[in-house]
Amino acid sequence: MEIIAGSSSITLTHAVCRMLNIEPLTALCRRFSDGEILMTISEKLNGDACLLIHSLSEPVNDNVMMCLLTISALKRSGAGKITVCLPYLAYTRQDGAASLIPVLMQAAGAYQCIIIEPHLPVVNSMIPITVLTATQLFLDHINATHGVDNLVIVAPDRGGVERCMHVHEKLGLKTDLVYIDKIRQDSICSVQIIHGDVHGKRCIIVDDIIDTGATLCSAARALAGQGAAAVYAYCTHGVLSGSALDRVQDSWIEKLVITDTISPRQDVLNAAKIEVISITGLLVKHSRGIS
Ligand code: R5P
Repeated sequence: MEIIAGSSSITLTHAVCRMLNIEPLTALCRRFSDGEILMTISEKLNGDACLLIHSLSEPVNDNVMMCLLTISALKRSGAGKITVCLPYLAYTRQDGAASLIPVLMQAAGAYQCIIIEPHLPVVNSMIPITVLTATQLFLDHINATHGVDNLVIVAPDRGGVERCMHVHEKLGLKTDLVYIDKIRQDSICSVQIIHGDVHGKRCIIVDDIIDTGATLCSAARALAGQGAAAVYAYCTHGVLSGSALDRVQDSWIEKLVITDTISPRQDVLNAAKIEVISITGLLVKHSRGIS
C-alpha cells in the first residue's frame, strides 16, 4: 500500500508512515493565477492500493477541492483502490450536507472513506464508510491525568449526551452524568440550565468540535458559577477559528485536550491551556487492514 500525504495533513501522515515504516508520497500542488488548483503525483502506481490522508480543515473549501483533485491525480497515476481518510470531515454540522462530501469523493475515484467522529451521522449507501472515534484516547488521558474521584462528565448540550454517556460509562463513574441546555445565537451561547450536581466536583466537558469556543467557554463559566471545583475539556476536532484561542485562554477551562485530526497551528501548540494528543496510533491500527 502507498500512503499519500494530503496537503492539510502532512505532519499526521508522516507520523503514520513512520510507525508503519513506509515512505509517504506527496501530492504536488500548483495554482493558476486565478486560484485554480492543480494537483499532480509524480510516481507511477501500477494498481497499488492507496491511502490518502487529507483533513478538510481551514481553508475548508480549498481543502475539499485539493482532496478531490488528489484522488483524481492518483487515479491518473494508476492507483488501484483508493481509501480516503478524512480525519476532520467538514460540513457535518449542517443537515443534508454531511453525506455530500463522501459522494464527491466517490465521484472523484475513491473506493472507501475513513472518517473520525462526524458531528452528524454520514448516511451514504454508495461508498463504504468506516467511522472511528477518539474516545479511547480521551479515556486513557482522563484515567492517567485525573483519575475518577469526584469527577463528573458534562455534556455541553443535549446533542452531546450520547457521546458523554459513553465516556461516563466507560470510566465507571459513581456520579451522575451532567448535561446543559443552551441557547445559541451565532457565536453567543447562553446556558439555560445545568441538569445535575456539580458543586465541589471536578467537571470534564466532552465535545466533538471546538470552533469559536462559545459552547465550551459558556459551559465552563456556568459550571464554575455552580461551584465546580475545576473544569477541564476534551474535544476531538480543534477547529479553533477566529478568537477561539483567546476565549479559551480567558475562560474557566483549566485544560483543553484536543487531537490532531486538524493539524494544530503554531499558536495552538503554544497555547498554555491546550494539549494536543495524536490520533496517529488509531490511524495506524486501521491502516493495516487496507488493501
Ligand atoms: C455543536 O452541537 C457541536 O457539538 C459543538 O458544540 C459546536 O460545534 C462547537 O462550536 P463552538 O465552539 O463554535 O461553540
